[in-house]
Amino acid sequence: MSNIYVANWKMNKTLSEAKEYMLQFLPKVKNCKNEIIICANAICLDVISKLAKKSNVQIAGQNFYPEDSGAFTGEISPQMLKEIGVNIIMLGHSERRIYFQETDEFINRKILKAVEDGFKIIFCIGENQQERDTKKTLGVLNRQIKVGLSGVTEENIKNIYIAYEPIWSISTFSMGRTATFDEIREVHCDIRNILKDLYPTNYADVKILYGGSVNSKNIKDIMTIENVDGALIGGASLEVESLVEVCENE
Ligand code: PGA
Repeated sequence: MSNIYVANWKMNKTLSEAKEYMLQFLPKVKNCKNEIIICANAICLDVISKLAKKSNVQIAGQNFYPEDSGAFTGEISPQMLKEIGVNIIMLGHSERRIYFQETDEFINRKILKAVEDGFKIIFCIGENQQERDTKKTLGVLNRQIKVGLSGVTEENIKNIYIAYEPIWSISTFSMGRTATFDEIREVHCDIRNILKDLYPTNYADVKILYGGSVNSKNIKDIMTIENVDGALIGGASLEVESLVEVCENE
């Protein structure tokens, strides 16, 4: 079974940098059997999704506003993404939750809109350091999953990847602390159990990705952990070579 590697470029790369990256990256992974998705900023999406069209790399948006069109200055709509061939969307990333005050309820609106419009979704969840230290991790994840996926059916859960990213382990937030393999194993098992309650038929098929300081050195071990089906890679996806090494880690 192939693994899933999602690169999150965040607010990095101008259009020319993104083009240059793709021209170098695509030939290097052309024989890779894993699923590779690059989440890029809105400015780059049209050009790089055309470059990636006949390749084994898929392109995703990092955000949209959950309406077809209208008076939402500064936002982009799901239809705008679909018209340029982008059918995957990342939602609920902790940076959207923290810097743009996105609540579980608002993320749920986005998820339902993405489902309605036929997107594959990378749904990010994760607790902060204080929640972890006060043993609230499970409660936080329970809430994020239950509210975030409210109204999502057994049929539609198959198009949603869950990405667990403990905020304290994300390279730009982390003060040197990263999740241990045991911590990852425990939480991924908890997430599978939450999904089992919600989706008794399809829970075992839902892909659960891990994110937070994933790089070419730790990926191989992370991918051996039970219930880890792939990874979300931020900082280590910005250089072509390091993302290639992550994607080709076997
Ligand atoms: P990181 O970021 O790999 O740089 O820790 C992951 C993310 O925030 O998606």
